[in-house]
Amino acid sequence: MDPTETPNPSTKPAPRLAGRRILLGVGGGIAAYKSCDLSSRLVKEQAHVTAVLTKGARRFVTPFAFEALTGNACLTRNFQRLDGQRTPYPHIDPATDADLVVLAPATANLIARLAAGMADELLPTLMLSVRCPVLVCPAMNVQMWQHPATQRNVKTLEGFGHRLCGPGSGDLACGMTGEGRMIEPAEIVEQIVALLPKTQTIPFPGSGSKKGRMRRAPRPKKRKPGSAGESAEGGKSKGKR
Ligand SMILES: Cc1cc2nc3c(=O)[nH]c(=O)nc-3n(C[C@H](O)[C@H](O)[C@H](O)COP(=O)(O)O)c2cc1C
Repeated sequence: MDPTETPNPSTKPAPRLAGRRILLGVGGGIAAYKSCDLSSRLVKEQAHVTAVLTKGARRFVTPFAFEALTGNACLTRNFQRLDGQRTPYPHIDPATDADLVVLAPATANLIARLAAGMADELLPTLMLSVRCPVLVCPAMNVQMWQHPATQRNVKTLEGFGHRLCGPGSGDLACGMTGEGRMIEPAEIVEQIVALLPKTQTIPFPGSGSKKGRMRRAPRPKKRKPGSAGESAEGGKSKGKR
C-alpha cells in the first residue's frame, strides 16, 4: 500500500476460512458457552461450521444456539436423520467431510472417551472416523487437568496426531486458580487458520449445497497383491469402513 494513502476503515479483512468445513465438538463443561462465540467467529471467517454437542454439553448450551449462529443443523445423536442428508450415516459422514475438527471445550471425560476409543455417543463415534487435523482445547478444574489419568489421556490424543491448544492459566470458574482455562475463542480461530493449508480454499456457496464444496484428495487405491494398479475395491462400496 502507498504510505501516503489513508486506510479505508470500512474495508473488512478478507475471510480466512472461506469454504472450509469445520466440525465443532462441544463437551459438557462450563466453558461450553464460549464455543457459541467460537462458532460465530468461525462463521465470520466464512467457514461452514457444524456443531456436535455431547449429552453433557446440552446441559450447558442448546443445539438451537448453534443452529442460529452457524445456520446449520446441530448434531447430537447417532441416529439423527437430517433433511438432505446424503447417506444414513450421521455417525461417519460429518467426520469424513470435515477439513478440521475443533473440540472446545474438551472436558476430562470427553478426552478420556477419545483416548479409550469409545463410541458411546455421536461425538466420540465421529472422532473414530476423523482423518483431518484435530485441535483439542481442554477446559477443566486445575486438579482434574493435573491428574495423571488426564495427562496420560492427553498424551494418547497427541499420539493420535491431535494438536493441543491450551489450556491456559488463570482464574477458573470453580473459584480456583491455575491451569485449566479454555483458550479464548479469538486465539483458537488463529490456531485453526494456522493449521489449515491456505491453498485448498473453494468458497462454499450456501449451507446444504454440495456445489462448490472443497474437493477431497482421492483416496489411495488398494492394490491386489500381484496386480499392477488395479483397485481392489469395487465402485463406491462402503463395506470396508
Ligand atoms: C457446573 C459444572 C461444571 C463443569 N465443568 C466442567 C469443566 O469445565 N470441565 C470438565 O472436564 N468437566 C466439567 N464438569 C463435569 C462434566 O460435566 C462431566 O464430567 C460430564 O460427564 C462431561 O461430559 P462430556 O463427556 O459430554 O464432556 C462440570 C460439571 C458441572 C456440574
